[in-house]
Amino acid sequence: MPKSTPVQITEILDGGKTDQVVSIKGWIYRTRSSGNIVFTVIRDGTNIIQATVKRGNLKDDEFEDAKKALIESSVIVTGVVVEDKRAPGGYELRVESFHVIQFAEVFPITEDQSPEFLMDKRHLWIRSQKLNAVFKVRSTVVGAIHTFFRDNGYIEFDAPVLQPNQCEGGSTLFEVKYYDTKTFLSQSWQLYAEAAVFSLGKVYNMGPTFRAERSKTSRHLSEFWMAEMEAAWMELDELTQVAKDEIRFIIQQVLEKNPRELTVLGQDSEKLKKMANTPFPTITYDEAISLLNEKAGMNIQWGKDLRTLEENTLMQYFETPVVVTNYPLEIMAFYKPPDPLNPKTALCFDMIAPEGYGEIIGGSQRGLDIDYMKKRLQETGEKIENYQWYFDLRRYGSVPHSGYGVGVERVVAWICRLDTIKDAIAFPRTMNRYSP
Ligand code: 4AD
Ligand code: MG
Repeated sequence: MPKSTPVQITEILDGGKTDQVVSIKGWIYRTRSSGNIVFTVIRDGTNIIQATVKRGNLKDDEFEDAKKALIESSVIVTGVVVEDKRAPGGYELRVESFHVIQFAEVFPITEDQSPEFLMDKRHLWIRSQKLNAVFKVRSTVVGAIHTFFRDNGYIEFDAPVLQPNQCEGGSTLFEVKYYDTKTFLSQSWQLYAEAAVFSLGKVYNMGPTFRAERSKTSRHLSEFWMAEMEAAWMELDELTQVAKDEIRFIIQQVLEKNPRELTVLGQDSEKLKKMANTPFPTITYDEAISLLNEKAGMNIQWGKDLRTLEENTLMQYFETPVVVTNYPLEIMAFYKPPDPLNPKTALCFDMIAPEGYGEIIGGSQRGLDIDYMKKRLQETGEKIENYQWYFDLRRYGSVPHSGYGVGVERVVAWICRLDTIKDAIAFPRTMNRYSP
């Protein structure tokens, strides 16, 4: 084997290895041969590069191996880096050694396969350039969330995944057998975070969240990751400002770290940049209803929740995410308190993403009135005993406090311009799929 240093493909494409002999470790992404030449494209996780294998430039048996190796075969390829404007990425590897680690069987994924087939083969399909790019953006989004909260004085705080209570309504709880009794998978970290703020002040977390959603939409998963925050002494205005700052920071980080991935995914970086530099408006639910009824010609009754159709129609009038506050109290979760200035509405908000990506954040101030919360829980048949610990938080030094949750996959789907939220997570769980 010629002398060489192992490198990542990105290092070559960044221009730092031109005219040097290097080795790359990867997998065959594409290959075709004609006579005494094999044109392969190798991928290594960081990027792809064209590698040209010519008989005579390497040992004959290695040339034969290169010729017969099918896509997804694992290889170590050594060669000279040559600048070539016609090659994808602008560089080519002129191969001097082609070492096959494993000859792959015929790869089951070819072009134009159905989404269901690709889901069955998800463990292989995650190697695609598209999902590779999504996972990199997702990693940036997750990193940005941690950085944002840590830099702003929030403490990471973990809650149990097995919880005896609902937070967002009993109908979407996943029940789990727990020794001789039963419990539920977490629907939200919130109720425990409300306990934590009396110890730590400002807390955040990101973790798996479970909802037995009966809806088969492009926005719903049964298992998703929610990034939540909770802060003592915080009221709705400040809360919505934190949410806007967080989303803006996430976009900025993706723009900085993932320009290539945004291109692979067909996302317009200029549009995102403009969005990150434009203030996100705040409107009330009442204003949203007026817009829908007066401008968009809909006929939405006051008191109804905004469904996908209403959210999408509303967002035709905005190019950035929008915060909508003060939804009707009655359709809100038990912990959202009435707004003293408009008691038919709650001190709550949703943030809605543009271009049909829907609600990306839900949050609120938290109720402090035990009797009101009891009444709301009883109306839905909840056992009040299970919530006594939560009411204790209002008995010992109660203060105004607030929090929200960001749907990580909703944000990733939006930033990556995905057709479905299922591609924002590696192994999606939905109403009709929990494998592989
Ligand atoms: O609006 P939600 O239900 O709010 C809560 O759970 C609060 N307890 C959060 C809090 O205040 N700490 O959910 C928050 C966000 C939604 O805005 C949405 O982005 C996402 O979580 N989400 C889902 N994402 C994917 N699939 C689902 N089934 C989702 N349900 C909610
Ligand atoms: Mg919500």
